[in-house]
Amino acid sequence: VSDSRQLIERPDYWKRRLREAQHSGMIHHSIYKCSLEQWHRIAERHRQILAELIQLEDSILDCGCGWGRLLELLPESWRGEYLGVDLSPDFIQLAKRRYLDPPPSAYPLRKIEFGVGDLRHDLPLLVNPKRKITWAVLISIRPMVIRNLGQEAWNEMEAEIRQVASRILYLEYDPEAVQMVE
Ligand SMILES: C[S@@+](CC[C@H](N)C(=O)[O-])C[C@H]1O[C@@H](n2cnc3c(N)ncnc32)[C@H](O)[C@@H]1O
Repeated sequence: VSDSRQLIERPDYWKRRLREAQHSGMIHHSIYKCSLEQWHRIAERHRQILAELIQLEDSILDCGCGWGRLLELLPESWRGEYLGVDLSPDFIQLAKRRYLDPPPSAYPLRKIEFGVGDLRHDLPLLVNPKRKITWAVLISIRPMVIRNLGQEAWNEMEAEIRQVASRILYLEYDPEAVQMVE
């Protein structure tokens, strides 16, 4: 059966990248290929930005969450609600293993959930419509969607995210990155 979806929309594409990255011991290669040193510098920059913006009890929707590593970038004092959504069941399985199983004793005050879903279609199923989430955080999602699927697909996705979240924070894999809140 032919699959006309673009690569980034195909769970098997991410499954293969994840498998290869796990095999090489460089798990970050599943989402971005760079040296470990560069990867740590990017993470540090993101930590700084998040520390400036995220308030103690803000709720967070991690859009295209991968294995949920945003949880390790948030301020240690943060104790809000977190929902990570990704279309790859393999990433979500890994995220659950890392942060929920065994119970997240490292973060006793955080309410952490993960769901498999497509940001363009499934947010109404995954998010409680009664309470707007404080932040949608998108790490390296917008340029990837525009590049691979086009501006219209991005517009659809952004509209869906805005239905459920008050603010969007965009972070890119750039150690010099400046925060972009819209
Ligand atoms: C470059 S990775 C970023 C992962 C994560 N944000 C991070 O920085 O650790 C892109 C992620 O977006 C997910 N993704 C791509 N299109 C998506 C969509 N339409 N809905 C949900 N997730 C999507 C992929 O499965 C992949 O995990």
